[in-house]
Amino acid sequence: MHRRIITPGVLAAASLLLAIPASATSGTPGAPGIGDPYYPDYGNGGYDVSHYDLRLRYRPGTDELQGTATILARTTQDLSGFDLDFLLDVSEVRVNGSRAAFARSGEHELVVTPGTPLAKGTPVTIVVRYGGVPSAKSAYGFTTWHRTPDGAVAADEPEAAWWWFPSNDHPGDKATYDVSVAVPDGTQAISNGTLQSTTSKLGWTTYNWRQNKPQATYLATLALGRFDITTGTSDGGVPVLNAYSRDLGDDDGAARASVERTGELVDWLSGYFGPYPFASAGGYVPRTTTGYALETQTRVYYSPKQFRNGSNTSVVVHELAHQWYGDDVSLKGWKDIWINEGFARYAQWLWSEHEGEGTPRELADYVYASHPADDAFWTVAPGDPGPDHQFDAAVYDRGALAIQALREEIGDDAFFAVLKGWPKEHAYGNASVADFQEYAERVSGRPLAALFGTWLFAPSKPAVPAARAASLAGTGTRVARPRSWRRIEATNDVHRH
Ligand code: TRP
Ligand code: ZN
Repeated sequence: MHRRIITPGVLAAASLLLAIPASATSGTPGAPGIGDPYYPDYGNGGYDVSHYDLRLRYRPGTDELQGTATILARTTQDLSGFDLDFLLDVSEVRVNGSRAAFARSGEHELVVTPGTPLAKGTPVTIVVRYGGVPSAKSAYGFTTWHRTPDGAVAADEPEAAWWWFPSNDHPGDKATYDVSVAVPDGTQAISNGTLQSTTSKLGWTTYNWRQNKPQATYLATLALGRFDITTGTSDGGVPVLNAYSRDLGDDDGAARASVERTGELVDWLSGYFGPYPFASAGGYVPRTTTGYALETQTRVYYSPKQFRNGSNTSVVVHELAHQWYGDDVSLKGWKDIWINEGFARYAQWLWSEHEGEGTPRELADYVYASHPADDAFWTVAPGDPGPDHQFDAAVYDRGALAIQALREEIGDDAFFAVLKGWPKEHAYGNASVADFQEYAERVSGRPLAALFGTWLFAPSKPAVPAARAASLAGTGTRVARPRSWRRIEATNDVHRH
């Protein structure tokens, strides 16, 4: 009898369909993950971001963050909708100027459905208005927004962005950034790149930061607190900006004695890796209780704990080396973490030699000799360690050992050409371990599959030539521990979350 009743919803859907030009398809939803097997739901499918514009306001007393994110992207398929990775409370989403529907899904997905589907290969502007108390949000049982006595810090790996801006959260989608943060007068806001300006109005100071080179989302950082900011320029012409919490207490001297050497160390690393790739360099030391340092692009995050035993240039060298290996050239998938950590560790070995505290060869011998064949250390393959072993000592130490093995196989001339040529080859892009092998083969003219297989992928202790094995195995002699060893090891004192 009443079969012909049509609900308003059906009518709306019908008129929506009529509004779509004949050539357009309705599209399908973008995938909730970008396709990284280590972290299947990290990042998203269907679009590629080119720029994040973040307008933020922060209250240190209550940890309230309010913001508007304007995201410039391009679709990579016909899209009926797409996800962003985000945890804070969203009040409005606009896509190409029009209000879009949005909903939560999973641990950290914000599902956006625009009124009109988006055609493949077209530019899209996404505006997200949001707010909340980041420290009150968690996903998978953890939060990486770290409160300090005077504010907060966002710096973690691989999860950090969810607590402060909506994003396509995977290194595979790099973008430029403008980050503008209003904080009460007397508080500073530190982020990546260059400080374009600060303005003050009615008790609030706004810090305008610009990152004009592509940056992975996990390398975007934000620190809010009472900081002393120092600026300078390296001999090589790189502008340097550092920031120190005003409450570092007894760690203040050692922190400054380390981080103030950024310009000198950037210039020294340029000798190995080529020109510094960004418009600014530096670091910041907030009063956090976490132990690690992180290579946040242009503005390295250091825990005060890294300086508890006095100055530590080794950790500064490690994080600055990442600016070339990890930040300029980023990994393609998280399985490629050796591209980051193996080389940052090897840079520490080079610095150790420069300081007269042990050569790379001595450090390699020490790593080799200090792990017996039945040590679980050798079961972790630095070339594909698995998500649970991504930041194991093996990725760093066995990873650097593999680099020393490469050096001995192809000789110093080819080796240092590879070291310097790689950042240029993949400037501001992404690359994999396989890409590195291919590049080293091209530069050296040698097949390297066996070498990479042995040192990066075999789940066992590699054999070395008999003569060397005898001297390493402790036939009476023990391999001496290089003086730089303890300090180098302390760098990857990673306690996740
Ligand atoms: N990439 C960091 C470094 O090299 C170490 C690190 C791994 C880390 N996982 C982390 C730092 C998580 C902070 C949070 O030095
Ligand atoms: Zn590192």
